[in-house]
Amino acid sequence: MNKKSIRDINPKGKRVFVRVDFNVPLKDGEITDDTRIRAVLPTLTDLLSRGAALVVASHLGRPKGQVKRELSLEPAADRLSGLLGRPVTILSDCIGPEVEAAARDMKPGDVIMLENLRFHPEEEKGDEGFAKQLAGLADIYVNDAFGTAHRAHASTAVMAKFLPSAAGLLLEREVQVLSHILEDPERPYVAMLGGIKGKIGVLRNLMKRVDTLIIGGGQAYTFLKAKGLDIGKSVFDEESFELAKEILAEAEGGRPQLLLPVDVVVTGELKQDAPRDIAPVEKIPPDQMGADIGPETRKRFAEALTGAKTIFWNGPMGAFEVPALAEGTRAIAQAVAESGAYSVIGGGDVVAAIEQLGFADRMSHVCTGGGASLEFLEGKQLPGIAAIEDR
Ligand code: 3PG
Ligand code: MG
Repeated sequence: MNKKSIRDINPKGKRVFVRVDFNVPLKDGEITDDTRIRAVLPTLTDLLSRGAALVVASHLGRPKGQVKRELSLEPAADRLSGLLGRPVTILSDCIGPEVEAAARDMKPGDVIMLENLRFHPEEEKGDEGFAKQLAGLADIYVNDAFGTAHRAHASTAVMAKFLPSAAGLLLEREVQVLSHILEDPERPYVAMLGGIKGKIGVLRNLMKRVDTLIIGGGQAYTFLKAKGLDIGKSVFDEESFELAKEILAEAEGGRPQLLLPVDVVVTGELKQDAPRDIAPVEKIPPDQMGADIGPETRKRFAEALTGAKTIFWNGPMGAFEVPALAEGTRAIAQAVAESGAYSVIGGGDVVAAIEQLGFADRMSHVCTGGGASLEFLEGKQLPGIAAIEDR
């Protein structure tokens, strides 16, 4: 990477602002997966061991510029404190006189954590005045928030204007891995997309780079509908409908090969004890939804994965949080693990799924960014990376 990293700076006696991505899943105020917190420990401990004081900052969820108590970073600060084995003081805001005073009084080895950056609308607007206020808290800016690098927000893409800047070790490592599969993937290269969040927009560019594109999970139903099938109550991304039709037309020549589900698990409710059935995609009942890929689909997807040399996987194949609907994701995780391919898994949901199913350590690389890794692999420049000083 042609960007400065923390190895290129001397943080001794300096206050370092570290932008992290602690956008972790929470249930009833408890963190259910702390992968993203553990992932930045090398950067934080390195800076601390070299005599820095740290101002750690992140967003959590999408509070849309409002203070939402349930999206406080307090649980993340507690977890960080436990993992670092030293106190982490959580502040009640991320800017303002109290925050300035706390940052001014820090000594080497101190760690403070700012409250959710997205409690201020200026963060997502990339507001310069807000970025400048944040920058005023420190002497050096470090970005280790790979998962948020595709957002041009104040704390990711603007702060570097006001301070010397460098990439953290996590961001550096993610870029290294993803650059390898962007620039020089061993072929066949299979990309597999699932999950429910709209991602169809990124497929256009990704398609040009892969040999096979597998679409499962919630993404698939928009395509099935675009093929003229009745998808009942399955998730449908209205906004991407036209695009899905275009992608289907483009893939008609067979390059890349495009694989969609041929059968799905259908149910009326995403619940463990709800009745469920297997249906060919041509026969999804009008009052039911597809909630997992079916057995024939698992077999076909696994065959494509078995021959791959490079695999990128983003998004689960079904509603894996419900054990009865996790079988498709499990079968695919197993096929990826056994393929022997260089496998990169990206995105919060699928990472949580493979952790839950026990496959995480059988993947070559588990990426902390979903949207960010997808955009990177499309060949886009990510604003959070572009902003960092060149080496
Ligand atoms: C993520 O989890 O996708 C990142 O933290 C970015 O969050 P966002 O998608 O709400 O911008
Ligand atoms: Mg996201």
